[in-house]
Amino acid sequence: VGVALLLEKIFYEEWMDKPRFPVIQGGMGGGISLEELASAVNYAGAMGVVSSVALDQFTSARVGEKLNQMEAAAREVADTKKACGFAAINIMVKLVRDYEASVEGAVKGGANMIISGAGLPIELPTLVEKFAGTKDHHIALVPIVSSARALRIIIERYWMNANHLPDAVVLAGPKCGGHLGFSYREIEASGENFLKDYDLFDVLLTPVLKLVKKYETKEHKIPVFVAGGIRTHEDVIHAIKQGATGVQVGTPFAASYESGACNDFKNTIIRSSNADVMLGSREWGSPTGYPFRYLRGSPLAQLGKNAENNYFCICSALLSSTKTDIPSRNGDCPWGYVKPLDKLCPANGKENVIPNRLYTSGTEIDGIKEIRHAADIVNELAGISCAEAK
Ligand SMILES: Cc1cc2nc3c(=O)[nH]c(=O)nc-3n(C[C@H](O)[C@H](O)[C@H](O)COP(=O)(O)O)c2cc1C
Repeated sequence: VGVALLLEKIFYEEWMDKPRFPVIQGGMGGGISLEELASAVNYAGAMGVVSSVALDQFTSARVGEKLNQMEAAAREVADTKKACGFAAINIMVKLVRDYEASVEGAVKGGANMIISGAGLPIELPTLVEKFAGTKDHHIALVPIVSSARALRIIIERYWMNANHLPDAVVLAGPKCGGHLGFSYREIEASGENFLKDYDLFDVLLTPVLKLVKKYETKEHKIPVFVAGGIRTHEDVIHAIKQGATGVQVGTPFAASYESGACNDFKNTIIRSSNADVMLGSREWGSPTGYPFRYLRGSPLAQLGKNAENNYFCICSALLSSTKTDIPSRNGDCPWGYVKPLDKLCPANGKENVIPNRLYTSGTEIDGIKEIRHAADIVNELAGISCAEAK
């Protein structure tokens, strides 16, 4: 593979205006990946992704106008697209209350790609078709999975419901930041061997590639992007050699200048080592029901297990819908159902320590030593030296 990894034909479809590096900046909720970060990544030649989480608050604050979730998603996507003609959005299935509104906004804003995980995004093709008013919408639909089993269900349902195949797949391994697609039972059964038992390359990738081969056709390829702990150009080369088309990377971008994370979050990533990346146990788990990685140095983790708020709650209000009311795992959400996001997701970026915050991060963070520009991170992953980039 040459100095710079350019995507030529593999991931170059009508919905990509030009070839890009096979690097997706993972969508990061809670105001981390918004238009600013996604645009910077797009500008550098990779694929930037905004997260749909609480855009009604973040986008409204940015544009100084009260927007609902649908309007906000449309605006965030459209503003991202302005920078270089490409926009992708990550919409988590578990955010039941806002899922449809976010998909509608993504379509209205002109998204080129919708990436969706944290649950099985089975309804996605039907919803996009409904909001676009046509089957021929040219929006790439990209599910996130952690097993071939989940992917098989998604492919079969996509085909049955909407005659559609995924346009790409993100395979999220056990080293990922944010929520993990493995159950507590699987993690507990593996114990110390969890990372090995579910190794992204040795265990997860082969069956996913095999499955994809079974369904893809000459006209419709299904590229696989692997995620979790990918940090260097060598990691990207390794992923491609193993059969992946590209990678999805989160944590390094969370610590970039363009990330919406507060400074304390960025500095905590930089100060932390691999040993400080924890995997939440059931009591520390997220109300989504999925295990969640967090940094030992986060304000909430520092409070210790015996503190009154020894649990956290990710956007419980978003998880609850009129259809299904999902209470937070440990009883009442410490922030209540009314305005939990005021505390969980404070205004984008600049403020410092907020008690009760839990910072999430992938593993392999020893090498993240300073806040950098998103473009420098893209260049490093793509194997472009500073001199070449200039
Ligand atoms: C701060 C943070 C927030 C995240 N939020 C989301 C999210 O809202 N939706 C999602 O699908 N994945 C989310 N993720 C996972 C990332 O998109 C990505 O898959 C993962 O971070 C890749 O692993 P890495 O951080 O080791 O590179 C998040 C990750 C981080 C670090």
